[in-house]
Amino acid sequence: MASFEQIFQNNEAWVAEKLQKDPDYFHKLGKGQSPDYLYIGCSDSRVTAEDLMGLNPGDIFVHRNIANMVISIDMNVQSVINYAVRHLKVKHIIVCGHYGCGGVKAAMQPADLGLLNPWLRNIRDVYRIHKDELNAITDEEARYDRLIELNVQEQCINVLKLAAVQEAYYDHELTVHGWVFDVHTGKLKDLNINFAKILSDIREIYRIV
Ligand code: CO
Repeated sequence: MASFEQIFQNNEAWVAEKLQKDPDYFHKLGKGQSPDYLYIGCSDSRVTAEDLMGLNPGDIFVHRNIANMVISIDMNVQSVINYAVRHLKVKHIIVCGHYGCGGVKAAMQPADLGLLNPWLRNIRDVYRIHKDELNAITDEEARYDRLIELNVQEQCINVLKLAAVQEAYYDHELTVHGWVFDVHTGKLKDLNINFAKILSDIREIYRIV
């Protein structure tokens, strides 16, 4: 584990490296942000945003929580999405799950996890919506992987329930993407979710604008 002293030394080295490439780097960074991407991912320490996308400070507006959830009464994620869409005018919203997600694993167990119960309940709801498909998968690991993917899909749909997102989405100013990061290979997988089809099915229920 890196010591606190080491972290500050790392920071000095990082600043020096950036300035060596561009003496104006931090001057430019200080001027403000206009990222094209909003990334909603898991808090898991192995799943970063900038690193795995090969992007830099200023490129991504980031929100992370346990199991990359987009919950309607979570003012944190709702505020992040609203701000990203209405003020930063991001072009893409990415919900990125990951295989081996501890949050999703916990939601598959019949256990009382205290404060985490109401949070993980939302993943159990994803399981309920897709119960037939999931229960048909006999291999437990494969079912776990599939729930991780379906959770990403459902959180993307939750993103599309926001008025701000619907406005930008139907104006073709914004696209939503569901990804899964594979911690075993380091690779990103685009789930290629067919939002047009999903939305045509549920728009009558969730349409706000
Ligand atoms: Co996770």
